[in-house]
Amino acid sequence: MSKLELNRRSLFAGTAAVSLASSGLISRADAAVAVTPDAVAPRGKRGIFRRLPNLNLESYQDFLRGVRQWSNFYGLAAACEERMAEILKKEGIDTAHDADLKLDHIIAFSEKDPIITLYGRAWLDGQYYKFLTLRDAFHANADLYLSEMEANDKVGPGSLELNPTMHIPEYTKHEIHTQLGGYVGDPFAGYIYLYDTLILNDGANEQDTGFLTIANASPVPKDGKVRRIHDLGTGVGQLATSLKRRFPEAEVWGTDIGGPMVRYAHVRANDNNWNVNFAQRLAEDTKFPDNHFDIITSMQMHHEVTAEATKAIFKEIARTLRPGGLYYPIDTRTSSATAKDFFGRFNGYLTYRWNHEDWWMEWESVDIKKELTAVGLKVDENGPSSGFSRNGRPNLVAYKV
Ligand SMILES: C[S@@+](CC[C@H](N)C(=O)[O-])C[C@H]1O[C@@H](n2cnc3c(N)ncnc32)[C@H](O)[C@@H]1O
Repeated sequence: MSKLELNRRSLFAGTAAVSLASSGLISRADAAVAVTPDAVAPRGKRGIFRRLPNLNLESYQDFLRGVRQWSNFYGLAAACEERMAEILKKEGIDTAHDADLKLDHIIAFSEKDPIITLYGRAWLDGQYYKFLTLRDAFHANADLYLSEMEANDKVGPGSLELNPTMHIPEYTKHEIHTQLGGYVGDPFAGYIYLYDTLILNDGANEQDTGFLTIANASPVPKDGKVRRIHDLGTGVGQLATSLKRRFPEAEVWGTDIGGPMVRYAHVRANDNNWNVNFAQRLAEDTKFPDNHFDIITSMQMHHEVTAEATKAIFKEIARTLRPGGLYYPIDTRTSSATAKDFFGRFNGYLTYRWNHEDWWMEWESVDIKKELTAVGLKVDENGPSSGFSRNGRPNLVAYKV
């Protein structure tokens, strides 16, 4: 039997001396799990980044990432946009000025064209195979990774709170981006999702540089006091831990509805000795006291919840921010208006229809400034650019006065 085929219960029964702590993978002095370090992360780490368990998968993921950049951000996207403009022009539609251009027109004119369909396929098939191959790898070694999470659950430096009996809203149960099981339905959702975030920062997010850029861009309250920070919908905690690296004295929380997400966020924080607290909670009902946080952030959460949930989350933010505190949300529309151009709208449709971004259109319908103002926050649309969007535009900040 190879190291990677160990039965997970046998991991706890053994008395082998090698501990995860001694590998530097987990900062836990008394870890007694009888697993060799290379079985958990057979190919070690680069800086803070755990390499995937085998070179084949790592190379495949690297290839898919290259395809994604080519299809979505550089060559193919530009060719697709040009092609759509040609088709629309032929149909007598002025893409620069025609305010009546409807999404139905765009779809009808575009969906049979080979360049445009190649664009859609390259993007969406790449997504599918990315998640499928990652899922296969972690599920193939399920005992190992489950045991690793169990060994970490109760040790720090930071804390972990899981709420296995809490109500999980239906709207969160979907195979987002084609990730099977989504954020709430696969025990390895966090392990898998981490590798999806490599696409950020122009594909150079391996050392969390995309998240560190956002953390460093975040404004601070006018009185300069930053004692408590909360990152909503934290995923695997990359923004929360980046904020902790910027504000080492602050108490930092990352919460998420996905238990598997925060569970892995905690493993990763332990891996790197970051003292951040993670909890499985709903952003609409965070359980924190009134007037508690100096800074609240969220990265790419709102476009993945219903419009109704977004409004409830804004209310919860207004409640839990202290007077003078601020909310710095980073999402598709926090640094620019809804895409009015035909290609932006076509992309929105594609991601909604085929990339399981089920709430994309609802998020597009939310008047962000109006809703934040309605819960009593003061919105500054000219806050610091987050560095996340390529447009470099100011990002909004909402203050509690
Ligand atoms: C696109 S991911 C972003 C994760 C992380 N912020 C990042 O940038 O990598 C959206 C996250 O929001 C979480 N989420 C969605 N709805 C939520 C809710 N109502 N309450 C808390 N978390 C939620 C999901 O579980 C998921 O981890």
